[in-house]
Amino acid sequence: MVVGQGAREHALAWALARSPHVEQVTVAPGNAGTLTEPQVRNLALATDQVDAIAKHAEAEHLDLVVVGPEGPLVAGLVDRLDEAGVASIGPPSHLAVLEGSKIYCKRFCETHAIPTAPARIHARLEEALEDIASRQGPMVIKASGLCAGKGVVVAETRAEAEAAARTLFTLSAAREGILVESCLRGWETSYIVLANGTRYLAWPSAQDHKRLRSGNLGPNTGGMGAFSPSPGMTPALETRIRQTIIEPTLNALAEARTPYRGFLYAGIMVDASGVPHLLEFNCRLGDPETQALLFRLESDPYEMLDAAARGQLDSCKPRWKPEPALTVVLASPGYPGPCETGAPISGLDAPHEMGVKIFHAATRPGPAKPITDGGRVLSVTATGANLEAARQRAYARIRQIAFTGMQYREDIGLVSSP
Ligand code: AMP
Ligand code: GLY
Repeated sequence: MVVGQGAREHALAWALARSPHVEQVTVAPGNAGTLTEPQVRNLALATDQVDAIAKHAEAEHLDLVVVGPEGPLVAGLVDRLDEAGVASIGPPSHLAVLEGSKIYCKRFCETHAIPTAPARIHARLEEALEDIASRQGPMVIKASGLCAGKGVVVAETRAEAEAAARTLFTLSAAREGILVESCLRGWETSYIVLANGTRYLAWPSAQDHKRLRSGNLGPNTGGMGAFSPSPGMTPALETRIRQTIIEPTLNALAEARTPYRGFLYAGIMVDASGVPHLLEFNCRLGDPETQALLFRLESDPYEMLDAAARGQLDSCKPRWKPEPALTVVLASPGYPGPCETGAPISGLDAPHEMGVKIFHAATRPGPAKPITDGGRVLSVTATGANLEAARQRAYARIRQIAFTGMQYREDIGLVSSP
C-alpha cells in the first residue's frame, strides 16, 4: 500500500507495481493517474484517517505500507501499523517531529553538533520583531510546524522579515513559535537515505527547484521540478554529508533507544567553501525528487523497501541507472496560494516518445478527462542520455498538455550549481 495522493505516490505505486513480488498496490487515496495504472487500485481513505488506513492494512494482510507524506507520519500512522504488526516504511510519530517541528530539529542539530544555520526561537511575535530589528541584511523566517513547503520566507530586508514574521504568526504552524535564522549562501541539494537503525542506503543525489518562477524568482513552493543526479555532488561531498549530518543523526537516535526507520531526507546548502549545512530534515521522500529518482532505479523497489522494513538493509544492493532523470511540475493558477481548480486537462493521451511519463498529483477523474484538483497537478518526468536530452523530452511532452492557467518553470535542469 502507498499512502498519499501526489505525484511522489503515483511514482511509488508505478514502480512497485512493476516488481515481480507485487500482485497489487493499493493507493490511499490516490488520484486520477494511479486509478489507470495497471495493478494499482485507489482506496477512498484520506491520508489523515490513520486508524482506518491501519485497520484496512491489517484486515487485508498487506505485506508493506509505504507512507508518502509527512502528515500521517506525524499523526502516528506508523505507530498504529506497528501495533497491528504490519510492516511499513516511515518513522513513528515521535521521530517524525524531526520534520514536524523545526524547533525540535534545530535543537537536535545544536545538541549533536550537526552543521546548520544558527537560529533563535521565538514563542511571541514581539520577541521575534525585536530579534529581527537587531539583525542586518538577509535572514530566514520559519514557522515551526508543517506547512507544505510554504512556512519559510527568505527575507532580503528587515522590513520583509517583519512582514513575514507577522504573517507566519497567524498560521497554526507557528503555534509552537517561529525561528529567525541566519541566511546561508551557496547551492542546494537533496540527500535522501533509506534507514533502519544505524544502517542506511543512500539514494542518488537530486536537486529540487523550490521557487515558483523561472530564474529562482517568486515564493517558495513544495518544489516545482527536480533532477538527479545533482551535478555538484562529488564523492568527497557525499562522504562529508554522511559523516557530519546523516550518521550523527542516526547514531544519536539509536543511542537514545529510538532507532530511525524509513526515509530520511536532508535538505542541504553547500557553502562557498564546500561545507554542507542542514537546512531541514524530512522524514519521507521528496516530492518532486522521487519522480526523477525512481526513474533511475534499475533494481527492484519492493526488495529494497521490504529489506528496510525488516532490518535487512545489509543484504540489499540497489542498482541505479547512470542516465539522469528530470521532472517538471505543472501547477494550477494561484499556487502556492489559494488555487483555481476544476479545469479539465487535455493532452494526457497524446502520442509521445519513450522515456517520458506523466505522474499525476492533484487530479481527479472527470466526465471526459481528468480534472485539476489542487496546487501541483502533474509531474512530467523524463530520462535521456544526458540532462539536456531529458530536459528536451520533458518539455516536448509538456507542450502537448493544457489546462486553464497552467503554470510551470521553463528552466528546470538549467539553473545550476557551483
Ligand atoms: P526548509 O523548508 O527549511 O528547507 O526551507 C525551504 C527553503 O528555504 C530551502 O530549500 C532554502 O531554499 C531556503 N532556506 C531555508 N533555510 C535557509 C537558510 N538558513 N539560508 C538560506 N536559505 C534557506
Ligand atoms: N521537494 C521538497 C520536499 O519534498 O520537501
